[in-house]
Amino acid sequence: MKIAPSILSADISNLGRDVKRVEQAGADYLHIDVMDGNFVPNLSFGANVVRQLRGQSDLTFDVHLMVEHPEKWISEFAAAGADIIGVHYEATPHIHRALKMIHETGKKAELVICPGTSVAMITDLLSEVDQVLVMTVDPGFGGQHFLPSMTHKIKQLAEIKAQRGFAFEIEVDGGINDQTIEQCKQAGATIAVAGSFVYNHETPAIQIQKLKAV
Ligand code: DX5
Ligand code: ZN
Repeated sequence: MKIAPSILSADISNLGRDVKRVEQAGADYLHIDVMDGNFVPNLSFGANVVRQLRGQSDLTFDVHLMVEHPEKWISEFAAAGADIIGVHYEATPHIHRALKMIHETGKKAELVICPGTSVAMITDLLSEVDQVLVMTVDPGFGGQHFLPSMTHKIKQLAEIKAQRGFAFEIEVDGGINDQTIEQCKQAGATIAVAGSFVYNHETPAIQIQKLKAV
């Protein structure tokens, strides 16, 4: 599985160092959580953080927009250096337009679903996406417990992918550790985001190796 460390749990006063650490440890993506204090009850990073990190890292930047009206922000994050831009199904009445806007910037489009959203709601959009992100916690904070009841969505997506010949990646985010990643992998997930498991440890490289070993 590909591993995407989330900088939400990094040491923000040493962010450049913490990004380098996971890059050198073999991380595949860098997961950047953008929160607006409205769509989720927390604030985090803006496009300036993406821009500054872009100058320091060759990792694929996976930008998870937890913001209302994501359409307003897509071009700014694309210009700042995002490679993949994720928008929540629940964040806009015009999700199809948002996905199209991401592709128009030349970036990969990711559709994200909260725990309360079923796969049935997004089946008509699956031909339009490069990645689907299944939230395995309620978005907004790092360090929460994995919700095992979400794994059936990963299975459903993997089945649709096989039946219809789609190539989208299936990503999981929230409460991922070296135990919970196993059930996600078995269900068909191809990318795992991990924040606290990687960064709340003195050697993030060891944590990444543990995830990769699964
Ligand atoms: C939560 C964020 C996650 C978060 C995961 O809303 O989307 O990316 O950083 O943190 P952990 O791995 O600690 O659950
Ligand atoms: Zn995230």
